[in-house]
Amino acid sequence: MKNVLVAATVIMAMAAPAMADEAALKQEAAGIIKEFAGAMKTELEKGIQAGGPVEAIAVCNEKAPAIAKSHADKSGWQVGRTSLKLRNPSNGPDAWERKVLADFEARRAAGESPDTLVAAATVDGSFRFMKAIPTGELCLVCHGADLKPEVKARLEKLYPTDQAVGFKPGDLRGAFTLSKKL
Ligand code: HEC
Repeated sequence: MKNVLVAATVIMAMAAPAMADEAALKQEAAGIIKEFAGAMKTELEKGIQAGGPVEAIAVCNEKAPAIAKSHADKSGWQVGRTSLKLRNPSNGPDAWERKVLADFEARRAAGESPDTLVAAATVDGSFRFMKAIPTGELCLVCHGADLKPEVKARLEKLYPTDQAVGFKPGDLRGAFTLSKKL
C-alpha cells in the first residue's frame, strides 16, 4: 500500500511540470487564435464595406494566409484553418485534424456549444491545438445557401472544387489549427 502511494506521488511529481507546460501551450495557442480571428473579422468587415462581397473575397483569399503567416513568424507556431467542407483544397486536414473535426461535429450534435470546442494533443513531437469555427451571419455572404450571383461566379472561378457553401448560422465552418515543434 505504502509503495503504491510512493509510486503515485512520484508519477504525479513527474506529470505536474508536463501538465503545466501543456496548460501554457494551450493558453498561448488560444491567444494566437483570438488575435487571428479578430484580425480576419476586421479585415472582412472592412473589405465588404469598402468594395462589397466580391472584392472582400480577396480578403479571405489573400489576407487569411498572410495573417496566418505573420502570426506564425512572430510566435514559432504554424497557424492555419481547415475544414471537412473545403473551399481551398490546400487547407485540407491531415489525419489528426480530420479526426478532431469529426469529433467536433459529434460533440456539437450532442449539445456542446460550437464556440467552445477545442482539442489538444502531442503528435509526432509537435504540440497541436484546434478550435472550432462556428458560422456567423457575416460568413453567410460567401459560405451560405443563397449567394449573390456575382459572388457565386467569382468563387466558382477562383475555387472550381468549392464545397464551402450551404452553411447555416451555428454550423461548424471548420477549425483553426495550430502546431508547435516541442
Ligand atoms: C467575402 C467572402 C467571404 C466571407 C464573408 C467569409 N469567407 Fe471564409 N473563405 C472565403 C474564401 C475566398 C476562402 C478561401 C481562402 C483560401 O484560399 O485560403 C475562405 C476560406 C475559409 C476557411 C478555410 C477553409 C477552406 O474551406 O478553405 C474557413 C475556415 C472560413 N473561410 C471561415 C469563414 C468564417 C467563419 C467566416 C465568417 C466569420 C468567413 N469565412 C467569411 C471567403 C469568405
